[in-house]
Amino acid sequence: MYDTGNLSYNWAKSHMQILTHSIDVLKESKPLKGITLGFCLQITKETSVLLIGAKELGAKVVACSGNPLTTQDSIAAFLASKGIEIFAWSNQTKSEYDWCQSKVLSCKPDIIIDDGGDLNTKAHFDRRFQSLKIIGATEETTTGLTRYYSMQKKGKLRYPIIAVNNAKTKMIFDNKYGTGQSTIAGYLRAMNLLFASKRIVVCGYGWLGKGVAQKCAGMGSKVIVTEVDPIKALEAHMDGFNVMPISQAAKIGDVFITCTGMRDVVQKQHLLSMKNGAIVGNVGHFDVEIDSKFLLNQVVRQVRPNLDECVLSNGKKIYLISKGRVANLIASEGHPPEIMALSFSNQLYSVLYILKNHKKMQNLVYDVPKQIDNQVATDTLNSMNVKIDNLSKNRLHIKPDGKSVKA
Ligand SMILES: NC(=O)c1ccc[n+]([C@@H]2O[C@H](COP(=O)([O-])OP(=O)(O)OC[C@H]3O[C@@H](n4cnc5c(N)ncnc54)[C@H](O)[C@@H]3O)[C@@H](O)[C@H]2O)c1
Repeated sequence: MYDTGNLSYNWAKSHMQILTHSIDVLKESKPLKGITLGFCLQITKETSVLLIGAKELGAKVVACSGNPLTTQDSIAAFLASKGIEIFAWSNQTKSEYDWCQSKVLSCKPDIIIDDGGDLNTKAHFDRRFQSLKIIGATEETTTGLTRYYSMQKKGKLRYPIIAVNNAKTKMIFDNKYGTGQSTIAGYLRAMNLLFASKRIVVCGYGWLGKGVAQKCAGMGSKVIVTEVDPIKALEAHMDGFNVMPISQAAKIGDVFITCTGMRDVVQKQHLLSMKNGAIVGNVGHFDVEIDSKFLLNQVVRQVRPNLDECVLSNGKKIYLISKGRVANLIASEGHPPEIMALSFSNQLYSVLYILKNHKKMQNLVYDVPKQIDNQVATDTLNSMNVKIDNLSKNRLHIKPDGKSVKA
């Protein structure tokens, strides 16, 4: 187990140049000395690079998983052997998952690094942890932010939270390119069927949906998009995809991928109207997008790892990937390391920013400072040996009469 974890860590590390370079540069000065960091992230090989890096920068590192199912056990074992206090294993029950989160909070973290908002929510609403002195937090994903914005509106935030998810160098690359690619990987492993020529229904045309639709189209699929937002729907239409309501798409789709972060996207009546043999799955954060409860209450047989056959009362067989949970992480291994290097560089710089600035910050959700975002993009371009131009210093100002002058 250790060897597998160690090899995976080294493999990821060798493809996360910008993160490892920052850690190497900062190592000497130990900027995180005396600080306890509480991580609640997907425990993957890429995350191990961030966790071990944080320890090298002087932090005490405690961690649990942001998802009860997705922990890679060899990585958890490897992290434990490296002195990380880790409370995570794969396929946890709800109470085990909860216990692990409580253990992290019992270690009194100064800063929380969360993915989905479960740990921060617990730190806010579980009486045992309400008196913890947390100076700030960061959030990796859209769903976590939705929860904090609602808490902020009610004046319930106890400390500042930096929305790492909203950094351009996170959202565009992790949500779009990362999920785009890892969703294909997860679906391929679960079903091992041809993408070319299939009608793939992508629900939601946000960052995830765009990435997934683009990759499916690249594989030769006929992509249908469903949306609730007229602007996103128009964008999908102009990008060349077929746009229609789910009630219509349900009847003709071969494969369904929910990417919304919202509930009740594919409901019982949609499942009943699908073609015999349709395959449904989800890559949004929670398993609330498809009525998987209804499907799993039918006659169910496991056909392949992460693929269940559900025989409905109307005789149709519908296939469910990863029980409706986040398929790119359960049926595959999540995002590639090159992408996670961008997300985790934003995480690292945001933690350092909180450490330096928390006294000036209010109990609000903050975007990642623009200079961090630009730094991550510049570092990544440099690591890929891509050069760009500089903006001209001679700015032009257009006067109301249409004449231009130098600003
Ligand atoms: N699987 C992963 O690795 C991964 C990675 C990043 C984010 N996420 C999660 O994926 C989800 C989506 O993230 P995002 O960044 O794309 O969000 P987003 O807000 O950019 O996009 C979501 C889209 O879904 C649309 N939508 C909402 N309800 C819908 C419905 N009923 N039918 C059709 N469309 C609907 C919205 O209008 C929006 O355009 C979140 O839960 C996020 O946390 C998962």
